[in-house]
Parts: sequence; C-alpha cells; structure tokens
Amino acid sequence: MPDLATQPLGVFDSGVGGLTVLAALQRELPHESLLYLGDTARVPYGSKPMDMVRQFARQISHELLRRGVKGIVVACNTASAASLPALADELPVPVWGVIEPGVAAALEVSRSGRIGVLGTVGTIAARVYQDRLERAGATTWGKACPLFVPIVEEGISDSDIAALVADYYLQDRPPLDTVILGCTHYPALTATLRRALGPDVSLVDSADSTAAVVARDLHAMGLAATGPGPGEVRHLVTGDVASYLHTARILGGPLGPAERVELGAFEPSPS
Ligand code: DGL
Repeated sequence: MPDLATQPLGVFDSGVGGLTVLAALQRELPHESLLYLGDTARVPYGSKPMDMVRQFARQISHELLRRGVKGIVVACNTASAASLPALADELPVPVWGVIEPGVAAALEVSRSGRIGVLGTVGTIAARVYQDRLERAGATTWGKACPLFVPIVEEGISDSDIAALVADYYLQDRPPLDTVILGCTHYPALTATLRRALGPDVSLVDSADSTAAVVARDLHAMGLAATGPGPGEVRHLVTGDVASYLHTARILGGPLGPAERVELGAFEPSPS
C-alpha cells in the first residue's frame, strides 16, 4: 500500500490559468509533488455549456486519479462552478475549488461591501460569487470578460490590446472598492487591471487563499508531504506542449517536465 502523503496532488485548469494556483501551492507546500493538467486543446471553458465543462472536469479528474493523485485542486473557476460539489461527492479523494476561498478573501478585504466580480461567461452567469457575497451582505457587480483568456493564453497580458479590452469591460462599472479576479487566468492581467481600476480598488485573486485552505486540510488529514526535499512539478497538456511551455514561461511558471496527454473516453455521468 503506497504512502498516500508521498503521492502527488493533482491540479487542473483549461489552460495556463491554473498555474497561478500551482505557484501558490508550491509556495505554501514546498515538499508537495504537483501534477498539473492544462486542457489547452479545449480552452476556453468559459463560453462552453456548463454540462460540457462538468464532463471535462470529470474526465480530467479520472485521468489524474489513474496517475495516483491523493487529492485534486480544481484550479479553474468555471470548472469549479460547473462541477462542485458533485465532483467531490463522486471522487474517492479530497477535492478543492477556488470559489469559496476567493469569496472569503474578498469579504475580508472590502471596506464598503461594494464588490466587483470579473469572470468567464459561465462563472458570471452561474452567479457562484455574486450569490455568496450577497448572502453575506455585499452589493455586487458581475462582468463576463471572455476576451481576457485568449489574451493571457497568447502571452500578451501586459499590452496595449489588453489595456483597451480592460477599459472596454470596466467602462460601465459602479463604484467598487474590491474586484475579484474570478478566473485563474486573470492574475496575469494584474498590472493592466490595476492601471484600469486605479489605486483605490483592491484586487483579490483566490490563488493564495486556495493554497492556504489546501495546506490546512492536507495537514489535518495527515496527507501533507513532509520532505525532506522539494516536491517535483510535472505538467500534462492536451494541446501543443511547446506553445504551452512558451506561455507558462512568460507567466513565470512553475515549470517542469511537460508531456502531451490523450484523455480517455468520458466516464458515464452518475445518475
Ligand atoms: N481559468 C479558468 C477559470 O478560472 C477558465 C478560463 C476559460 O477557459 O475560459 O475560469
């Protein structure tokens, strides 16, 4: 029976966006081995039907399980919105999403309770952030920003094009003191969004808060890797490996060996 604590943690996203969560996990849990899957052949998820994204999330989770992961971090807001909590009920290992940690972080940071949420079409339409924030007494403004993901995947997050697109999406915003980056690709646009929103608006990304929750839970469950050395990071990519690594390098990694993966046929949906 393998020692579960030494098994890798699985992390996935539609593309490079989840690397922001991967980097936070590496900082928080330096001894942990991490197996990242970027579904770049099917990015973006944000404008696809949610039941399709749910099937992608199940298919990827089963691939990661086949490779022996001890837990799975859904490092994608759209996939978290589409598949949780059902995915967690279905899988035999712990599963974490990025939405609850992002909501908690925004409520802590906001002074006025006027909170904006930027995300994919799917995440904003599902109201996974807005409903939770409003139940806690906040006033929300949700905005779908579908052009942001291809800009980040293209490696041009800090460009004139990115600035124009940010201004376009933010032009009709009400007064806000906090904006949630409700897509794991968007932290790559932090400099652009800061310029567009001005110095008085706090930006919240759920990478650090998600990593903190995962670390707390792994320790509590006795599943955290204890070292002695640093864990290894490996990448699986459904699309072109070279262009994935090119963008991952621009975003600052974390890098590691990367290989192409063919995902198996869909598992049948649980009834
Ligand atoms: N990074 C993902 C998210 O957090 C998905 C973006 C996309 O593929 O549209 O929503």
